Amino acid sequence: MMNLRKYMLIAPALLATSLGVSAGEGVKVEHLGANNTLVRIDGDGRYLMMPVQESTADAKVNLLVDGKLDRTFYVRLAKSKVDYSVPLDLEPYKGHNVVLEISANHDRSSVREAKEGACWNSFTLTDSFDTTNTEKYRPAFHHTPLYGWMNDPNGMFYKDGVWHLYYQWNPYGSKWQNMTWGHSSSTDLINWKHEPTAIEPDGIGTIFSGSCAIDTENTAGFGKDAVIALYTSANTSQMQSLAHSENNGESFTKYPGNPVFTLETEARDPNMFWNADTNQWNIMLAHALDKEILFLTSPDLKTWTLQSSFGKGEGAQDGVWECPDLFPLNINGKKKWVLLVNLNPGGPFGGSATQYFVGDFDGKTFTADTDANGKIPTKWMDFGKDNYATVTWSDAPDNRRTAIGWMSNWQYAADVPTMQYRSANTLPRELSLFEGIDGQIYLASTPSPETLKLRDMTLVKGKNINASKKASSVKLPAANNGICEVAFDIESKNNAKVFVTLSNSKNEKVVITYNPADNTIAFDRTQAGISDFSQDFPAVTVSPTFTKDGKTSVRMFIDHSSIEMFAKDGKYAMTNLVFPNEPYSTLSFSSEGNAKITNLEIYSLKAN
Ligand code: FRU
Repeated sequence: MMNLRKYMLIAPALLATSLGVSAGEGVKVEHLGANNTLVRIDGDGRYLMMPVQESTADAKVNLLVDGKLDRTFYVRLAKSKVDYSVPLDLEPYKGHNVVLEISANHDRSSVREAKEGACWNSFTLTDSFDTTNTEKYRPAFHHTPLYGWMNDPNGMFYKDGVWHLYYQWNPYGSKWQNMTWGHSSSTDLINWKHEPTAIEPDGIGTIFSGSCAIDTENTAGFGKDAVIALYTSANTSQMQSLAHSENNGESFTKYPGNPVFTLETEARDPNMFWNADTNQWNIMLAHALDKEILFLTSPDLKTWTLQSSFGKGEGAQDGVWECPDLFPLNINGKKKWVLLVNLNPGGPFGGSATQYFVGDFDGKTFTADTDANGKIPTKWMDFGKDNYATVTWSDAPDNRRTAIGWMSNWQYAADVPTMQYRSANTLPRELSLFEGIDGQIYLASTPSPETLKLRDMTLVKGKNINASKKASSVKLPAANNGICEVAFDIESKNNAKVFVTLSNSKNEKVVITYNPADNTIAFDRTQAGISDFSQDFPAVTVSPTFTKDGKTSVRMFIDHSSIEMFAKDGKYAMTNLVFPNEPYSTLSFSSEGNAKITNLEIYSLKAN
């Protein structure tokens, strides 16, 4: 008010234009101060489009409904140019007075300067928001959000033939912020339907990762078969909260007693399952900075008892521990437990990655298997740079243990060359156990069988190729911008290295090297395409083949900006993003000496 008076005295003309500047029809902008503005809605339209410039800082927006604070969120409001606009859905406020009270991000020193913000004239009201894909790198057969930023998959459950996938989502921009649970569903794990927003931030915090389970015993009192969600309410503290759904996960009602569990130190990403042996819930919580997983039990998900912890000083410790999961799998008729622990940074090739421990669990305590030296070995679930926050579906059918990861890396996820949306999920993967040549038990990941549905035309089947010093090439399919599946076996003689190259006419290439001398397979994306958005992006990632007979196999899924590579039996998995300027069109094989490529198969794939 003081500032306004000053303007009234010294510059009445300026004041007349600075207050009540009109933006799009039905939107009125009033600058209160250099960095404080009101945007009033006084027209009709389902959505208010908010103009974003990614390189600016966040503006704080208080959404006032009939003069009362409804909620606060953050948007990178455009300062000098509009990159894209994001919708604020006004449907819930129909018939009410809506005002955005904005603490702007533009570092202006006067109202006159504030008016220069590129956003003010671009707030518009509209009845439709176009989500048609505008970007060449958006995957054709991986799950992505319609728009906005996505990180961890979470809260996944299966019920009545439907796979539910929730995810960490920013509805107001393509960088991390305003964590909300977005929701997609699928009957085949491949075709995803975008569902309404599932859980939105509230007075105690934004909605971080967590899990869902079906309460078949009505232990929480929300009804038999209610879907229960546990998540972290993130604010100054990280607290654990509870919500339930009576419509199969479409919408959730938050528990009025939230938060249900708090610790003084950072703890997040609660993951639960009903333990029929002990008649209790087991909950795993990432004690992030302490780099350990806490094991808790609860009869009703409302009162929790801390039972034990695992991990201090064990496994990879060069980053925070996040997003745990614990589940049993059988090997040779014996039940073992797998503890997934996501780690950021500290992954084998920098940044974020998923490690796991195999061991036993008695309902309260997890005990990891040790190696021949009595040490707990560090094991990685995927040997690429772009598989993080991996967790599994609860209540999956046929005893399946199906996992999905976030197909990116915290090192550069916000900088990859997309804007309408950011980040995809990996293909769904089936998990099983196998015994390695060192006697240790490892986790195998194979693409879920539903991925076979993606195959369109069989372009090559059962072809054998001699890989020698001179490269032999085959064409990759051009349909749907080159999306395809490629599989083959490699047999090397006398430890000769084998090179498999994917390339395009711009000389961009991915080079895969099988080295039987040390039983590794490497993926080199240093010349794969665009990489200048981050110095951490160019990389060579290396996996053990878990074989020692000069043989390995490859099954590869190539989408517009990712390559997932698996051994056919799933012994290794390697997920890497790539941003070629045009699709890879040639696949060639060569070797330092002599090698055989057999059973080559190439399929073009259907785009979703
Ligand atoms: C992992 C993570 C989680 C957290 C979420 C926030 O990527 O940091 O620990 O719940 O992302 O979006």
